Amino acid sequence: MTASAVVTRQGATVDIVGVSKSFNQRSDSARVVLRDVNLTVRSGEFVSIVGASGCGKTTLIRMVAGLAPYSSGMIRVGDTIVKGVPKRLGFVFQDAALMPWRTVRANVAMGLNETGALLSKADARTKVEEAMGLVGLSAFADYYPGQLSGGMKQRAGLARALVSEPDLMLMDEPFGALDAFTRLRLQEELAAIVARTTTTTMFVTHDVDEAVFLSDRIVVMSTSPGTVKDIIEVDLPRPRLRREGLLDNRRAAELRDQVLGLVIEDQAR
Ligand SMILES: Nc1ncnc2c1ncn2[C@@H]1O[C@H](COP(=O)(O)OP(=O)(O)O)[C@@H](O)[C@H]1O
Ligand SMILES: [Mg+2]
Repeated sequence: MTASAVVTRQGATVDIVGVSKSFNQRSDSARVVLRDVNLTVRSGEFVSIVGASGCGKTTLIRMVAGLAPYSSGMIRVGDTIVKGVPKRLGFVFQDAALMPWRTVRANVAMGLNETGALLSKADARTKVEEAMGLVGLSAFADYYPGQLSGGMKQRAGLARALVSEPDLMLMDEPFGALDAFTRLRLQEELAAIVARTTTTTMFVTHDVDEAVFLSDRIVVMSTSPGTVKDIIEVDLPRPRLRREGLLDNRRAAELRDQVLGLVIEDQAR
């Protein structure tokens, strides 16, 4: 990515204020999945969300993305209250969800969506090439998803999210389906990428070490109904380049134990 592509923009702030979410059940009753969630994510901040399975992490992030309505409260991205999908949003799912009949380049280009219409063809092409370069996929631009490894597919999904230079990146267990080694490398690459951009990131994971490595803050959620239980500040210096660097870091171990303790405490109930 060129310097000019990143210095002019600012990451969005995200305000989640008193948000609750219920799902209607077969009977007349509604099930409260999230209750009174409050969280402010600062511009450019990297926040991870961890919590037991089923606590509502995906539901929360989908609501921020405008993909699901919230039952009460308010979510604001930048200065816009979320009603539909906010502009300049990048979303990465656990499954890269690539179009199998399109090349990597064409899949990445899809991420330009409404911003693409404002660009000349040449500029759009440049952005797509830059995004592929950022995730190390330049040599695979003409490949089809079926020809890629799991890690490369996630890279393509990441490039598709990054290509529009989003103000906000939402990532829902993006590395959850990858083998341990690919996962470590992608964590390092993501850390390097976000360090070079101004984007704000909300990152759902069940991997506490991953959260410690990547985050400025870690939001621990409790279950039934899901709400913010605690927020842990990750006071490890940046840049954090290598996962191995955290293995013998005492503070990282303390933070991991603290977060893990909070999650397990909740699961035990
Ligand atoms: N569309 C839906 N309809 C009904 N219940 C749902 C729906 N989506 C999620 N849920 C329920 O909401 C809870 C939280 O789900 P989810 O947000 O996927 O949790 P997490 O991502 O933390 O594992 C779960 O109990 C799940 O069954
Ligand atoms: Mg989930």
